[in-house]
Amino acid sequence: MKRIALIGTGRMGVHHARTLVEEVSGVELVALCTPRSPRLGEVAAELGVPDTTRDPQSLAAREDLDGVVLTTPADTHVGLVEAFAAAGKHVFVEKPLATTLSGARSAEHATREAGVVLQVGFNRRFAESWTRARELVTAGAVGEVQRAHSLTRDPGPWRGDPDKVLQDTIFLQTLIHDFDVLNWLNPGAEPVSVHAVADALIRPDARDRGFLDTAVVLVRYSNGAIATAEASFSASYGYDLRAEVFGSGGMVQMGDPVATSARLFDASGLHGDTAGTDTSRYHDSFRRELQAFSDLVNGEDVDHADGADGVRAQLVATAAIRSVAEGRPVGVEEVGA
Ligand SMILES: NC(=O)c1ccc[n+]([C@@H]2O[C@H](COP(=O)([O-])OP(=O)(O)OC[C@H]3O[C@@H](n4cnc5c(N)ncnc54)[C@H](O)[C@@H]3O)[C@@H](O)[C@H]2O)c1
Repeated sequence: MKRIALIGTGRMGVHHARTLVEEVSGVELVALCTPRSPRLGEVAAELGVPDTTRDPQSLAAREDLDGVVLTTPADTHVGLVEAFAAAGKHVFVEKPLATTLSGARSAEHATREAGVVLQVGFNRRFAESWTRARELVTAGAVGEVQRAHSLTRDPGPWRGDPDKVLQDTIFLQTLIHDFDVLNWLNPGAEPVSVHAVADALIRPDARDRGFLDTAVVLVRYSNGAIATAEASFSASYGYDLRAEVFGSGGMVQMGDPVATSARLFDASGLHGDTAGTDTSRYHDSFRRELQAFSDLVNGEDVDHADGADGVRAQLVATAAIRSVAEGRPVGVEEVGA
């Protein structure tokens, strides 16, 4: 049994820790770490995790650890990935790999040099209909890919504070999922140019402070395919993730805004439940991606988003950010050089 630690016991960290303990085989979660949360000891006791620490570096120094799961804020990822890679530990890092392209490249390089696993938490790849769609696309079932679309609409109403949202979060943390999906569903092709339009439509009062809550991004690929991604922080009707690939021979769709196949018909019409969030609606995708990390740590060769995939998604995000800033389509080589 391989031994792993988890760093960052916030919303995602507690979810992943519980999933690792209760539903993932092949690894044992032996330590939890977070610098500040007062609930660290409580969470560890509840999950039966034997050790806790406030110091991530002390975990990197432990010889009895094989790997680490990083569920810390995005701007801490690169430093932690590099520290654990240097210590020879396998790394699962939540998306995004980094908040800058140079950071993403540096983290990818560090893990490659160290010869350790780097898995980026692009869990949508592990959602059932996305996994099946990729199998169909790679088997040629839709023919030549001509169009792809991916969307993320978080459940509203959005109650965040625009002044506490990191700059360009809609690209770096939300649409980064869609950029990975579009790259992954167009096998063998590379993104070549990006045109993004974004605005503060939910909180127009924060527009002049650079806040963005709504975006549409057009990505041209090296095989000629035209892809689009869109995101909103606030879908009034619930949580909505979907995608579609259209090709010369057909079309495959993924996702459903409705959480259940049950439909209620009553005097006011037809109803389908759209409630839920990422960890409830897409729990199984998180379970499968963490099982993949366990399998990788145990030496198996399983499909996953690796460091190169993290960098490729970051390239699109970086070009999108520049496209909005400059109001023009941006070539990927302009940001990638
Ligand atoms: N895959 C998905 O769909 C998905 C969904 C939500 C969040 N995420 C990602 O998960 C990560 C965490 O998000 P969250 O919503 O759980 O955040 P959060 O703020 O709830 O939790 C972050 C945790 O990290 C700890 N932390 C802060 N700075 C640290 C440091 N320097 N070293 C170690 N620990 C530190 C905090 O104390 C806290 O416990 C982010 O990268 C986010 O993008 C992914």
